[in-house]
Amino acid sequence: MAVIQLVVAIILSLIATCGKCVHVLLGDPVTFPGTENCLTGEPAKLHRVGEHSTSLVAHREQGVWSPAWDYKDRVNRGASFAFNSTVYTDKGLYVLGCGSREERTYLYVVIGFEASVNEGEPAKLMCYISGQHVDAIRWEKGQETLLELNLSSGEIQYAPGLDGKLSLSPDGKLGDYSLILNQVLSEDQGDYFCSAHANGAREQWGEPAAVKLRVISKKPDPMGTRPTRTPTKSVTKGEHMGTWAIVVITAAVVFLIGVPPSILLGWYLKSRRAPHGSGVGRYTVCGAIR
Ligand SMILES: *[C@@H]1O[C@H](CO)[C@@H](O)[C@H](O)[C@H]1NC(C)=O
Ligand SMILES: *[C@@H]1O[C@H](CO)[C@@H](O)[C@H](O)[C@H]1NC(C)=O
Repeated sequence: MAVIQLVVAIILSLIATCGKCVHVLLGDPVTFPGTENCLTGEPAKLHRVGEHSTSLVAHREQGVWSPAWDYKDRVNRGASFAFNSTVYTDKGLYVLGCGSREERTYLYVVIGFEASVNEGEPAKLMCYISGQHVDAIRWEKGQETLLELNLSSGEIQYAPGLDGKLSLSPDGKLGDYSLILNQVLSEDQGDYFCSAHANGAREQWGEPAAVKLRVISKKPDPMGTRPTRTPTKSVTKGEHMGTWAIVVITAAVVFLIGVPPSILLGWYLKSRRAPHGSGVGRYTVCGAIR
């Protein structure tokens, strides 16, 4: 009984002390809010508040944030404090002290999966939730709320301009709160987060909690193949050679047939980009390769 009370007290205090909540997809960069706002000349420190101890994450001197030793390989010195990539254990409570001001930020690091969709096509971003004591379901893109479903009234509130562009899966009663984008545009690319709320506070994350949506632009793709994710960070030399050989041979054949040079160039640039991916491929369906 005492244990349950203690757990409830900790959860309540966490909710109460969560001045600002920030969520990020595992591996993505995150900037700590407020770190750029400390007055010039004011000493500032960012601490990580753990269950049993508090540790220094960074301090600011002459307007520049410097990371503590443990973080120095993931932080660039600058006017605001940011991890240039997050790890799972970064999640937790951070306290920023600027002079006598104190600001709390709770950082959630969530695991998501990747989806690639062709521009102009519809997309369904999966999210399942089976909460008992939940009164709203929220979808966010980055830190912005896109829509919120009121579970008692069944009403959906959309961010301005998104009504008609987005909808929720009709299977909400079965726990399916997937987000449907009727027609994906290039600006829809980004990180989407799905969560359940009770009494105005986030109660739980969906499963999966997040989707990294990549929009494939409409340019013609003669090969008809698009990698949905890059399996590893580095491509071996042999694979490089193979890719190049295919590029060169196909280019020669296409050239001989007499395709206009502009199409050739567009396609060539696309094939060069394809095997690398930019930071994508860090996630698998169930988690991160780290
Ligand atoms: C992340 O920060 C480290 C340390 O400052 C730096 O060496 C590295 O290049 C950065 N990585 C990226 C992707 O910015
Ligand atoms: C959800 O709908 C119910 C019933 O219409 C209403 O009483 C409640 O205030 C709504 N909740 C929110 C968060 O808007």
